[in-house]
Amino acid sequence: MKLLVTGGAGFIGSNFVLYMLKKYHDYQIVNVDALTYAGNLENLKSIENNPNHVFVKADIRDTAKMDELMGQGIDVVVNFAAESHVDRSIMEPDVFVKTNVLGTQVLLDAAKKHGISKFVQVSTDEVYGTLGETGLFSETTPLAPNSPYSASKAGGDLLVRAYHETFGLPVNITRCSNNYGPYQFPEKLIPLMISKALADEPLPIYGDGLNIRDWLYVEDHCSAIDLVIHQGRVGEVYNIGGNNERTNLYIVQTILEELGKSESLINYVQDRPGHDRRYGIDPTKTMTELGWKPEHSFETGIHETIKWYLDNKEWWTRIQSGAYQEYYAKQYGSRL
Ligand code: NAD
Ligand code: DAU
Repeated sequence: MKLLVTGGAGFIGSNFVLYMLKKYHDYQIVNVDALTYAGNLENLKSIENNPNHVFVKADIRDTAKMDELMGQGIDVVVNFAAESHVDRSIMEPDVFVKTNVLGTQVLLDAAKKHGISKFVQVSTDEVYGTLGETGLFSETTPLAPNSPYSASKAGGDLLVRAYHETFGLPVNITRCSNNYGPYQFPEKLIPLMISKALADEPLPIYGDGLNIRDWLYVEDHCSAIDLVIHQGRVGEVYNIGGNNERTNLYIVQTILEELGKSESLINYVQDRPGHDRRYGIDPTKTMTELGWKPEHSFETGIHETIKWYLDNKEWWTRIQSGAYQEYYAKQYGSRL
């Protein structure tokens, strides 16, 4: 099988490429990534010399390039490429629409032209909006995105749906909850808090810290996408999540405790505008139809993740420079 993976130098995309090449020794992967601030070729160092992996630096909005790449015998497209950070989307929505909506449409057109056999759109539970104290997101929950990021992901999802309904393109959409694990860019909650705690700097918690996210170890997300590629019924949406709802405060306290740091580092700051209160995924369909089951409990996953960041300090300290620093000052300057 020949896969075109977009965004494969980012957090989840690179974990997915490593996972697939390890599991399927005869699969070929064309990995397309624009290498924005979030793309990092260091994530792919271990497969540098693997002949089954070809990296192409390109933007998914580049129509001619996507046409050329998909014309090279691609069977399956897995679209991870996206602007992914909610806070950035609040500051600068423009690029979110361009990549997450228009970029998806460019890929869909190329996939349609070349008759690929499966297009998997990697989406998010955030397209469903927010939950109150009870209930879970199912695949039939109406879309109600609240941030420019989630609205742009919902826009991409709706185009994927439309290309299936209108043109018969064989698609699946996956909607996963919050991922954590190796190679996550240190702007996201867990790696940000680990790096702050290690530096004995204040840990910025938005609002009252009681917003809830449903956490899944990244490898478990990869195994679910693998099953969707091979067994997902065409046209279907699959929710992915491991029933691990935690408050942000709990996450931060866990990190501080594991690192032997004081809770006095916690710093409550101004809330994120439009901050979704709670996410919770009902993964029943993915589990029963595809036989998927997460392998990592939250306790082992967070322990392994903290250890990875301790063992790979160079990876994230290199990131924390240049353009990232500039963004960081803009984002937190007025809050701390
Ligand atoms: P990330 O920001 O770490 O990686 C995104 C990658 O896409 C980067 O390598 C970047 O260079 C690349 N990219 C961005 N714009 C591009 C463009 N125009 N053309 C080509 N490449 C481009 O994101 P992530 O956390 O790995 O998320 C990957 C996907 O999974 C996204 O679609 C996101 O919406 C979805 N998702 C993420 C989570 C999560 O918790 N992180 C949960 C569910 C779904
Ligand atoms: O649910 C899936 C989504 O999870 C993905 O679609 C997104 O790409 C991914 O970024 C993530 O979105 P969140 O907004 O949930 O993740 P983030 O790490 O930005 O924030 C997690 C929670 O922590 C959220 O409630 C906001 C809070 N937070 C975040 C940061 C960065 C803080 O309290 N302080 C912070 O400094």
